[in-house]
Amino acid sequence: MEKRELLSKFQEIFGVEGTLYFAPGRVNLIGEHTDYNGGHVFPCALTIGTYGVARKRKDNKLRFYSLNFEHLGVIESSLDDLKPYKEADWTNYPKGVMWAFGEMGMKMDSGLDLLLYGNIPNGSGLSSSASVEVLTGYILRDLYGFKVDNKALALIGQFSENKFNGVNCGIMDQFAIAMGEKDHAIFLDTNTLEYQLVPIKLDGIRIVIASSNKKRGLGDSKYNERRSECEEALGELKQYIDIKSLGDLLEDDFEIYKNAIDSDIRKKRTKHAVYENRRTMKAVDALVNNDIVTFGKLMNDSHISLRDDYEVTGVELDTLVEEAWKQPGVVGARMTGAGFGGCTVNLVKEENVEAFIKNVGAAYEAKIGYAADFYVVDVGNGPCKLS
Ligand code: GLA
Repeated sequence: MEKRELLSKFQEIFGVEGTLYFAPGRVNLIGEHTDYNGGHVFPCALTIGTYGVARKRKDNKLRFYSLNFEHLGVIESSLDDLKPYKEADWTNYPKGVMWAFGEMGMKMDSGLDLLLYGNIPNGSGLSSSASVEVLTGYILRDLYGFKVDNKALALIGQFSENKFNGVNCGIMDQFAIAMGEKDHAIFLDTNTLEYQLVPIKLDGIRIVIASSNKKRGLGDSKYNERRSECEEALGELKQYIDIKSLGDLLEDDFEIYKNAIDSDIRKKRTKHAVYENRRTMKAVDALVNNDIVTFGKLMNDSHISLRDDYEVTGVELDTLVEEAWKQPGVVGARMTGAGFGGCTVNLVKEENVEAFIKNVGAAYEAKIGYAADFYVVDVGNGPCKLS
């Protein structure tokens, strides 16, 4: 949809002119389920994302409209009622951010009209919710003059998702979206929030996303379950070794102290968190040294660990990845994001992309019974104002 169309749609629905903004989606290249364990992640922002048109109101009303859910019409709320409601549907995300700003002493002095349009495939695992959160924060900063930098926008987005929407996510998604830079991935230490922008030099290689189209259901509760398993294991390890998070452990430390963890399941979860963190550091080293082959192999190892030790893949993601590994021109393939559905990220040589999509798509449909969707994506910038 064109900028002009978005602006005129806003005018049609709300009867006034608005300002246009954008925030990207993200894909994580490696470093999965490490962000709430004090480890490293390596995501990048995409050129697809969420567009928002907004205007400050004179009263306390909040009015929301999404071009992705037109059947829901205008959803109304008020600054005096910033609480999550099931029937408020997607508007719980922008409302959560408004509430979070208020909790941090930045209260909106009047209401807002907001229209959204996202071209991130829904439920694909490319962080459409974090994109909406960062976009809302960016709009509030611009329209209400709140003094916050982009890092704070990421933290406010995460806080709102944790406390308002009840998903205990880490900081990766909001950080990647708020801090993204074209043709760079973000090597982030989630323990300190120190980060490095690393150029993504993928000469002749494309990033292909395969969306499993599996409906997520239990995903969020399983996510919180993994998180508590890791927290429990950390508590057990702390009785023997002085660490603050699993991200502090080297592989060798894990092998020495693992028997402090009194359950095989928690041992496997911890193994993943520790090895995946180190794998991410090695992968970034490889990329900096132009060794894309090693980078790809580490992506494959990441998937195996998420499949066997962390157990967050499932037959859909495993099929997509295992079929991808068989294809010519595939440098690396793994699930990305929370798992339990969502999508995979594949590095594929340009000349093989077409055949890759055809072959993996056919094998997936034959085995799973419905089709996957494929997107060749580009690495883009963080949030911006477009009008
Ligand atoms: C989701 C969460 C992130 C991160 C990933 C797994 O995307 O929002 O914080 O934990 O899962 O790496």
